Amino acid sequence: MQAFEFYSPTKMIFGAGTEEQTGRQVTEWGGTRVMVVYGGSSAVKSGLLDRVTGSLEKAGLAYECVGGVKPNPRLSFAREGVKKALDFKADFVLAVGGGSVIDTAKAMADGAASPELDIWDDFWKKKVPVPHALPVGVVLTIPAAGSESSDSAVLTNDETQEKRGLNSPFHRPRFAILNPELTFTLPRYQVACGIVDIMMHTMDRYFNPVTTNQLTDELAEGVLRNTIRNGRRAMEKPGDYQAMSELMWSGSLSHNGLTGLGNKTDFAPHQLGHELSAMFDVAHGASLSAVWDSWARYCLDTDPARFAQFAQKVWGIDPAGKDVSELAMEGIEATRAFFASLDMPTCLSQLECGVQTESVLEELAYRCAFQNTRTIGSFRVLDHQDILAIYRLANH
Ligand code: NZQ
Ligand code: ZN
Repeated sequence: MQAFEFYSPTKMIFGAGTEEQTGRQVTEWGGTRVMVVYGGSSAVKSGLLDRVTGSLEKAGLAYECVGGVKPNPRLSFAREGVKKALDFKADFVLAVGGGSVIDTAKAMADGAASPELDIWDDFWKKKVPVPHALPVGVVLTIPAAGSESSDSAVLTNDETQEKRGLNSPFHRPRFAILNPELTFTLPRYQVACGIVDIMMHTMDRYFNPVTTNQLTDELAEGVLRNTIRNGRRAMEKPGDYQAMSELMWSGSLSHNGLTGLGNKTDFAPHQLGHELSAMFDVAHGASLSAVWDSWARYCLDTDPARFAQFAQKVWGIDPAGKDVSELAMEGIEATRAFFASLDMPTCLSQLECGVQTESVLEELAYRCAFQNTRTIGSFRVLDHQDILAIYRLANH
């Protein structure tokens, strides 16, 4: 087990009707002037936004709403949001939505607390440590990105088409309200994207070079089994409270660091997926399922025993009469088949962008390797040529 620090300070408030507590929670965390951030239309249509602002009013809080965050949230919107937060003299940012809304709120909170710095140029690119940020709270509407418990925020620069994440302790929200009922309006496609993303946050930690962490492995395997079981149930029975509860909690645990403690993280499939989202604006979960099968087949030889353990412990595949490589391949195939059963793409032809030319694949690989200045992954360290080979494998 490697040395680690575990800092997961977000207060998680789980259960039906918990959004009614929003005003009280903001007050508890010192907010008096609240910038409420939301997405396209779902929170307005469902009446959630009215309930949340009603709760703020009841607590005597001033607020202003900024709506219109798009999936794969844009830097330009976040920059405008910083200006609005400054004009309003906000001292708290409240996200009502999913990963895109939460990440925009985090970026606004960074920028509004340091108006002399630019969120992209200074924090995202130069990696100037975020010195302080406005506190952020979350009312979660989709179990997927895990941003409600993570230290990460991911933005897309709409001028350069770069999709990049930024980690900071200030990105841990003060509180997250998790009411599974708020997910009942989700389209089936978004539920499926969320299931993939929850699994991938766990698998991108599970496949790593340190294989001696028994408790961390068991936690990751448990989160994966639970997500698969309840993912199936959620897809079969839309609006199933129990299934959405399990997914919501799995989503928060899958990305707060717990399932990778004492390990190196890998996150190569996430980096491969981010380039697809940056270039083609495809949904995050779909970008991950489209590349994972190819990543896994490419990396299988790095540690077949790890894939064999995954096959046995996560998918319950009987090892009798199989060698390690056969077992490993069955685990990969079970994962691919599960993603396919959710109608998630498992190669590029099934993603909105379709099969690509060789020159586009080269451009994707070049960008993913940050113009050949970085490698990705830790389970197997992938350079530009490896990245290109994986995009080629997925290009059918
Ligand atoms: O905009 P609205 O109308 O709200 O519709 C959204 C959006 O179209 C809809 N939706 C959300 N809740 C709904 C709902 N529709 C009906 N009923 C509801 N209850 O779902 C669509 C997708 O929303 P989005 O917020 O984009 O989804 P998700 O939570 O999957 O977030 C994805 C973003 O998070 C980033 C991804 O890269 C992507 O940009 N990630 C953030 C991470 C983090 N900060 O830790 C980690 C992840 O790996 C990920 O990279
Ligand atoms: Zn993700």
